[in-house]
Amino acid sequence: MAKDTMTLTNNATGESYEYDILHATRGPSVVDIRTFFADSGLFTYDPGFTATAACESTITFIDGKKGELRYRGIAIEDLAKHHSYMEVCFLLLNKRLPSKDELVDFDLEIRHRAFLHRGLQKLFDAFPDDAHPMATLSAAVTALASFYDEHVDIDDEAAYLEMAHRIISKIPTIAAFAYRQSLGIPFIEPDINLGFTENFITMMRAYPGGKMHLNATGHDHVKDVEVRALDTIFTLHADHEQNASTAVVRGVASTGAHPYVAISSGIAALWGRAHGGANESVIAQLEFIGSVDKVEAFIEKAKDPDDDFRLMGFGHRVYKNFDPRAKILKKLQDELRDELGLDTELMKIARKIEEIALSDDYFISRNLYPNIDFYTGIILTALKIPTSMFTPIFVIGRTVGWITQWIEFKKDETSKIARPRQLYLGE
Ligand code: CMC
Repeated sequence: MAKDTMTLTNNATGESYEYDILHATRGPSVVDIRTFFADSGLFTYDPGFTATAACESTITFIDGKKGELRYRGIAIEDLAKHHSYMEVCFLLLNKRLPSKDELVDFDLEIRHRAFLHRGLQKLFDAFPDDAHPMATLSAAVTALASFYDEHVDIDDEAAYLEMAHRIISKIPTIAAFAYRQSLGIPFIEPDINLGFTENFITMMRAYPGGKMHLNATGHDHVKDVEVRALDTIFTLHADHEQNASTAVVRGVASTGAHPYVAISSGIAALWGRAHGGANESVIAQLEFIGSVDKVEAFIEKAKDPDDDFRLMGFGHRVYKNFDPRAKILKKLQDELRDELGLDTELMKIARKIEEIALSDDYFISRNLYPNIDFYTGIILTALKIPTSMFTPIFVIGRTVGWITQWIEFKKDETSKIARPRQLYLGE
């Protein structure tokens, strides 16, 4: 019977080294090369980690060829359709969906932890009026570490879950405060009568006193369809295995820094437009294109090898067939169009881009499909959420994933400080 090992031969010296193959429960297995440098004196070279597994994990599984995404083994389509974001948070942290009673307790705990220490609220005053909410968010999460400076014992489940619940709960408040600070308008405190997603929309939109906009016929209210759409967006962002920002969170965890500092570093990494910042860039790009008749010219620009213009919201390192999150959101976008009677110029431009790109050989041959950010940008615009809040909304959804990955890293006895090597070509 064939051995589950791989032999690597250095053709210059003729020396061979044998390595174990470790089998995954789903997806590619790995070659365990941990002793490779000690054996051969050589490093492996893999910029961007395109073929390198850096950890074992049981949280999220992606099959990029099949367009499959699962949290704790459950398909994203099932979670988006049948479960709330609160249930998804419980699932990621506890490895199973909650019972009815557990969900009530979890939801209540998250509601009660949403308030910010008065001292932390003073930090927001330090930022200029037009500060991007991502800058304020990242700084405030680092500051949060100083308010909860206790050592988290990773063998004490109650202690690390409390730490996780607190950050999940406070992130929407910090994001909403960061936004209101950028407008120079008073903060709206969280309301324990409201669920996670409705509370966040209210903290962003309400007038002082927590009341919504007043018409001749009474107060506006947050629509169910808005809560449903945003809750689904949070679920779709909740985790995405070892992406750039999660790798940063694990990297910071590996140095022993405070978990909230690791989350703050993840926020900074997510901000870039190749990652979570893309949703904001999608809208900036659609607005820049301006009208449906200009779409073809921009598609030509995106295809030109001498032009570094890229279609924002297209392409993915892992998904090479379609992004399953984008499929769910496209359906949601169509529902919103019907329910809210929306068909804006932006939506028409987006539809035209999608139509051309999906039938153009440049995009087909490179497996470039609309990704999650293409549709979140359009849906959040339809929900009248300000563009500067798109990436903070990604942060709100992803915080549970980051903190779950932090816990997994800490519990893994094989974890080591992240310390890559290099191919030195200098003097
Ligand atoms: N528009 C036009 N051409 C593209 C695009 C695009 N959006 N994305 C990739 N390409 C081309 C690229 O020029 C290259 O062509 P060639 O082989 O001729 O040199 C080929 O496709 C492969 O691109 P790559 O940069 O090697 O692919 P990557 O896996 O390193 O990058 C990516 C993935 C997401 C950074 C990239 O597709 C991109 O910049 N997309 C736009 C930004 C975006 O939408 N980001 C959000 C990603 S999803 C949310 C998240 O998980 O963060």
